[in-house]
Amino acid sequence: MAQSLIVALDFRSKQEVEMFLGNFENEKLYVKVGMELFYKEGPAIITYLKEKGHHIFLDLKLHDIPNTVKSAMRNLASLGVDMVNVHAAGGTAMMKAALEGLEEGRQEGTKRPLCIAVTQLTSTSEDVMKREIWIEKSLEETVVHYAKLAQESGLDGVVCSTLEVPKLQEVCGKDFVTVTPGIRMTSDNANDQVRVATPARARELGSSYIVVGRSITKAEQPYKAYQEVKRQWEELTV
Ligand code: C5P
Repeated sequence: MAQSLIVALDFRSKQEVEMFLGNFENEKLYVKVGMELFYKEGPAIITYLKEKGHHIFLDLKLHDIPNTVKSAMRNLASLGVDMVNVHAAGGTAMMKAALEGLEEGRQEGTKRPLCIAVTQLTSTSEDVMKREIWIEKSLEETVVHYAKLAQESGLDGVVCSTLEVPKLQEVCGKDFVTVTPGIRMTSDNANDQVRVATPARARELGSSYIVVGRSITKAEQPYKAYQEVKRQWEELTV
């Protein structure tokens, strides 16, 4: 099975990343680089991680006019990352433009990066969606609608809660990729995550990729924590 446990590198600087990765010796990881790290270190952090042989989900959640997103995606693809994302709220023209940019920018001889959509941020409650964003539909209907738009635009999948996976697979099919954060081990503190699932539960529900941050990055023994998450995540598939 392709590596599908993604470790969120939610660190402030390359120095912190180096310290963390020092726990892993020669293990090749699938890592997620978000805004904090990318805006501090720039594309050099991607080059560094690629040189170490890691796969990369560059989580910048693009949302702008189609032409700007296309050009930006062309540049992100040229970095050789494996996965990127956009906000589905940018609309189908923007999502299609994102894919065009990725095709144009992909490195020769490589596949274009997977492109997935954020439907509604998990920090947005149904109440906020209604009162502030003026979306009258329920949160679930909105998530499903945005996922369908992403699929119609040719995107590979969505970021979503594990609990949304069965519904999204029913609507979009089993090949539609679901990338699910909000993963906790039973022994962990949930912190600010509300709707959490264990790696095993995420697998049962059908997640394609799980994104795990603090359960690994803040563990006393990150490598051991990583192995345990991986074991639980892969248990049902081997
Ligand atoms: O530490 P934790 O496992 O909660 O980290 C989860 C990662 O997934 C973080 O990088 C967080 O920003 C990201 N994420 C999330 N919920 C979403 C989308 C992304 O927690 N809906």
